[in-house]
Amino acid sequence: DVDTDLQPRPPVVTIMGHVDHGKTSLLDALRGTDVVAGEAGGITQHIGAYQVTLKSGAKISFLDTPGHEAFTEMRARGATITDIVVIVVAGDDGLMPQTIEAINHTKAAGVPMIVAINKMDKPGSDANKIRTALLQHDVQVEAMGGEVQDVEVSALKKTGLDELTDKILLQAELLELRANPDRMAEATVVEAKLDKGKGPLATVLVRRGTLRTGDIFVVGTESGKVRALVNDKGQQVKEAGPSVPVEVLGLTGVPMAGDNLAVVENEARAREVALYRQQV
Ligand code: GTP
Ligand code: NA
Ligand code: MG
Repeated sequence: DVDTDLQPRPPVVTIMGHVDHGKTSLLDALRGTDVVAGEAGGITQHIGAYQVTLKSGAKISFLDTPGHEAFTEMRARGATITDIVVIVVAGDDGLMPQTIEAINHTKAAGVPMIVAINKMDKPGSDANKIRTALLQHDVQVEAMGGEVQDVEVSALKKTGLDELTDKILLQAELLELRANPDRMAEATVVEAKLDKGKGPLATVLVRRGTLRTGDIFVVGTESGKVRALVNDKGQQVKEAGPSVPVEVLGLTGVPMAGDNLAVVENEARAREVALYRQQV
């Protein structure tokens, strides 16, 4: 990054773990909403992107990933667009196949992890058993002489949440996350779909710069112009800066998750770049 005007940006945190270990519930507890109740069968089918503002004013962006086997690709993607991964392990269930897969994705992406031992309200939960089991997968938490942070939580009882966000912010500080908000935006597509009413939609995470209504962009092999931006609360917003997840309207086609969205000077330039990308 040749930008000189770098300013602190919020961390992007991906929540990963085995199916039903409480990833969405934990995120709900942090956001004070109830997404789980709205999910068909309580199963996350997509990557949800949210930003939480803490009492201190600090912000954290979160990506929720599905734990089901079918979504390996989404978890791999989640690990690569993130600064920190929170691995959620149900304290009464232990390390399961998607927990181990999530640990491996995180390591492969070279991203620091924090382990959240969830469901501590359940009588069968045993945090020390989880800490010991993690050793077999080369994850050493502090209590075991290692450097990985862990925290005992209950998404249901809303306990351990402040400790979790404190640890996320501490880790984020070490990473010295910075971006220039005063440039043409670059963002990564988190998910995209064709909406019957609104047309092609993409949820993107802004990496640098500020994305604004009216901006002309190229995404994948498509070009477009931002017709509207919608935040994670469903509200229309005029702009989205670094680390902010936002839904973009005004695409000419449905891009792929992981595609780069880049704002360009004008429509001629957008067509030129899109055409070039179609040829390579
Ligand atoms: P997928 O998205 O399907 O992979 O699941 P998930 O990891 O997002 O889990 P989800 O939040 O859907 O929770 C699964 C179940 O565990 C739900 O019935 C939750 O109510 C329950 N649950 C989540 N957290 C806790 C907790 O801290 N304590 C207890 N007792 N139950 C919890
Ligand atoms: Na679930
Ligand atoms: Mg979920």
